[in-house]
Amino acid sequence: MLKKFQETLDKRKESGILRTLKPQAAGIDFYSNDYLGLAGNKEIQGQLLQQVQENPKLLSGSSGSRLISGNSNTVNETEHYIAEQHQYPAALLFSSGYNANLALFSALPDRHDTIIVDEQIHRSVHDACRMSYAKKLKFRHNDLEDLESILKKQTGPCYIAIESLYSMDGDLAPLQETAVLAKKYNAALIVDEAHALGVFGYGLIEKFQLQNDVFAVVMTYGKALGAHGAAILCGETIKSYLVNFASPFIYTTAAQDFLWMAVKTGYEFLKQRPELSEKLHQNIEIFRTQNIKSTSSELSPIQAVLVPDNQPLKNLQKTLSDKGFLTYAVYSPTVKTGTERLRICLHSFNTKQEIIELTETIKTCI
Ligand SMILES: Cc1ncc(COP(=O)(O)O)c(C=O)c1O
Repeated sequence: MLKKFQETLDKRKESGILRTLKPQAAGIDFYSNDYLGLAGNKEIQGQLLQQVQENPKLLSGSSGSRLISGNSNTVNETEHYIAEQHQYPAALLFSSGYNANLALFSALPDRHDTIIVDEQIHRSVHDACRMSYAKKLKFRHNDLEDLESILKKQTGPCYIAIESLYSMDGDLAPLQETAVLAKKYNAALIVDEAHALGVFGYGLIEKFQLQNDVFAVVMTYGKALGAHGAAILCGETIKSYLVNFASPFIYTTAAQDFLWMAVKTGYEFLKQRPELSEKLHQNIEIFRTQNIKSTSSELSPIQAVLVPDNQPLKNLQKTLSDKGFLTYAVYSPTVKTGTERLRICLHSFNTKQEIIELTETIKTCI
């Protein structure tokens, strides 16, 4: 047994793509999802500390799943608060976005249904589809014609899975147009807003007021909100269905109330401090005016710089890391050969000087 595993790992190593856990790095952050700097925000930490001092029970373990002993007042209140903030009838909390997607796509579609996913959809949706008896079909990234040609051929119920802001390409989905197609073919549109929350206020569904056209939304709290966990926004019937049939919701211990306090505090912070997202968008603009060829949206904090081939990409990342810049390189076969890329994440706390130095260094290498 072990021999088989070792051989597979050796092959990865030979191809230069072996994943290893590295010690926490120090440097200028151009790789984390902490777009607004809330993960280390001292004001938020102070507020949370005060809440814990006033109510130390927030640190208690939940003691069980939501359906047994873990259904605290705090988690229920937080769900009501979140549903109201996003103008959805209901919200259901999860300890991660991965689990929220697993729950949605494994529980809702049944064996007669079809899940049509954008080819760039997050891995959690693919994994969920493997747990489901439904058929999965992929459409070309952001390609409405391809999506429609697939929808046309279906005879049974369909779900469409997209992200509003894609995490690898840093581009935006044609949300309104996809909602129109979903309506035309009576398909249930599900949108993952993991990277849009906080970057675009409460996300793009709220921005374009598409709540009535989007069947369910996944919000995650480990990115711009600086915490952890996730919520599914949906109608009451879907919430009740998930509580009854979604294994990733039912068979797991509820998170501690402290997490939900942190999530609520993050929401309140977003409302109180719109200047953080304004600063982020100024930084995105600074990056975009440095003449670096990026395939990403001009509004995205994720900027993908294509460096075809693994070796030149490795060299670029090494040069940047020697200068103290933390970036993330995406090699093939994680992405298609020829589309290897440096993934740069911009933040509200990056300085103009840092962005210019980063881009100047990139220019000397590509
Ligand atoms: C689009 C998308 N959906 C879901 C997830 C999973 O969220 P979490 O990190 O909270 O498990 C991620 C995070 O990598 C993501 O990028």
